[in-house]
Amino acid sequence: MSDPNQPSLPLPLPVPLNPFRPGAGQQPIYLSGRTKEQDTFRQMLKQNPVTQNAIVTGLRGVGKTVLLETLKPIAQNEGWLWTGNDLSESTSLTEDRVARRLVVDISTLLGPLVAFSLTTPAIGFGATANQETRQLSFDDLWSIYEQTPGLTIDKIQAVFVRVADLIKDAPIKGIVFAYDEAQNLADHSSAKEYPLSLILDLFSSLQRKWYAKQFLLVLTGLPTLFPKLNESRTYTERMFHVMQLDRLSDDDAREAVVEPLKITKSSLGFSANTVEVIVKMSGGYPYFIQFMGKEVFDAWIGKITQGEAPSAPMDEILEKLDQDFFNPRWVRATDRQQQFMQVIATLPNGEDEFSVPEIVKASRIKLKTGFSPSHAVQILQALSERGLIYKNRRGSYCFAVPLLARYIQRQAWDPTSLHPGS
Ligand SMILES: Nc1ncnc2c1ncn2[C@@H]1O[C@H](COP(=O)(O)OP(=O)(O)O)[C@@H](O)[C@H]1O
Ligand SMILES: [Mg+2]
Repeated sequence: MSDPNQPSLPLPLPVPLNPFRPGAGQQPIYLSGRTKEQDTFRQMLKQNPVTQNAIVTGLRGVGKTVLLETLKPIAQNEGWLWTGNDLSESTSLTEDRVARRLVVDISTLLGPLVAFSLTTPAIGFGATANQETRQLSFDDLWSIYEQTPGLTIDKIQAVFVRVADLIKDAPIKGIVFAYDEAQNLADHSSAKEYPLSLILDLFSSLQRKWYAKQFLLVLTGLPTLFPKLNESRTYTERMFHVMQLDRLSDDDAREAVVEPLKITKSSLGFSANTVEVIVKMSGGYPYFIQFMGKEVFDAWIGKITQGEAPSAPMDEILEKLDQDFFNPRWVRATDRQQQFMQVIATLPNGEDEFSVPEIVKASRIKLKTGFSPSHAVQILQALSERGLIYKNRRGSYCFAVPLLARYIQRQAWDPTSLHPGS
């Protein structure tokens, strides 16, 4: 019982819920932009027969995974089944493991939907064969795989021919197979294993034949994915429609900041100035928008729980972003590689694409010991393997991490490495 003589304490105001969601694969409260990609995909679902599959590529944090997640209900509304997986876990990928992955995914999807009838041979004289009907299981399909002679591709094809037959009367248009982080199929495959080619060969063979139901492949991955596909099979150029995700336009970036606050009816809002600062400093990259939005929001609920955050403590937020996001990637490079990237960051086009001669020239001006062209190529290769650089479709190089050039510009040079005149 409370004492009526005691003055009652003011009730604390409820702490507003932070509506920003930085983090790999975290569905944002409001998915900004990307309607063009969703429309394109909706059109692709109308193909009959399917001749084009979809690829979604872009830098880390640009929103591939969350876009893929929104394609699923679109496909389902158009009468497709959807299955798939994230390929990031499979560190050493073999053809056999990828085949198994496909069979697991298809049997998990179809298990509850398809009745599988199998006839067990009669045992003994005068016995009649047993007809048994039950749910389709992984083993039913895997045994087809194991019993088919030949190469992995022959085996997996045999499974899918059976699947096509099982679903031929189902009230669906077909099945979408969606695989995220698909660059791993090429990057982390074991020696003499071609899991990427296996998938390409399987889908192209399914799409060349006439089946009552369609099979559509959707691959998502880093920008290295498409060149890898082309290296692996030359026909892939025609087999895929590539959707390259980029930073959001200023208008879409603004909506990505403002809408989550509106949708959650947040009692704490951002001033117009704060919104502009986030749009500018994030470069329109979705992950950075979510990160900065979350940080500004948290910084202000500490001080006020209602009203408008009048300003954004951007220096502190940048510091935190450096700690959480950039530093762990930066330290993957050696001192000399870091110098190399510092040289790139001095180029006026360091945020876009750059070439070996440009780096070599700038390094000779900036550093005591510059880089030779062959050394530069070698370092670019090493940095690609560390996920810091990639070679684009035109053969130029780019940073593989968004806004990395700006981060590098914030790093101090080793004074002993600098050219005296620079
Ligand atoms: N279109 C978008 N609008 C708002 N936020 C987004 C959008 N796309 C992605 N995000 C946010 O960006 C972050 C990274 O998204 P994610 O799909 O994991 O990127 P990727 O798969 O390309 O690395 C997540 O926090 C997600 O909520
Ligand atoms: Mg992702």
